Amino acid sequence: AVYPVLATVAAYLLGSLSFAVIVTRLMGLNDPRTYGSKNPGATNVLRSGSKAAAIVTLLLDAVKGWLPVVLVRWFGKPYGLEDGTIALVGLAAFLGHLWPVFFRFEGGKGVATALGVLLGISGWLGLATAATWLIVAFFFRYSSLASLVAAVFAPVYYLLVSGVVWYAETSIAVAIAIMAMLLAWRHKDNIRRLIEGKESRLGGSKAAPA
Ligand code: G3P
Repeated sequence: AVYPVLATVAAYLLGSLSFAVIVTRLMGLNDPRTYGSKNPGATNVLRSGSKAAAIVTLLLDAVKGWLPVVLVRWFGKPYGLEDGTIALVGLAAFLGHLWPVFFRFEGGKGVATALGVLLGISGWLGLATAATWLIVAFFFRYSSLASLVAAVFAPVYYLLVSGVVWYAETSIAVAIAIMAMLLAWRHKDNIRRLIEGKESRLGGSKAAPA
């Protein structure tokens, strides 16, 4: 069983590429770990004022979750890689984003990467989750709240899209549930700020407390 291990390690290394840090460095922008929420993620890169950098960060952080999942799905069979490995590589990429080996294990909150993993598992699952994020973000203008609501719905959507409950792969369902729980836990400061009414709004004033 060397291939599942290799695939999982590779996915973790890929997930460890903190694109918020890499993209801002390449574009000559400030390091997102030094301003706003201090989070190396697309939302905080947006607070730098560069929409382009935020979009590139979002895309690349999502791709690093999506790629290992679809590679295993499309090409894994001959190597004995099945659903359990899909669950493992998706989770590994997500864990890499949260605890990146290349960045002193200080990573982000996993929203974009989890979305990429979900898109890799199923396009409909990813779209439903992204739509949930967009709807909440549109009406409430909080990125964190949108992420938290989307995280609650993602496991439900998985059970629905995977043929209504009984065709769901247990390993994949468990991986999605673990991602949702870790994602919520990484947002504990955001949750406190939301309750206190101190969370910064999307498109809000740059001076707002993050
Ligand atoms: O991308 C994570 C998002 O849900 C919250 O980010 O920077 O507002 O803590 P941030």
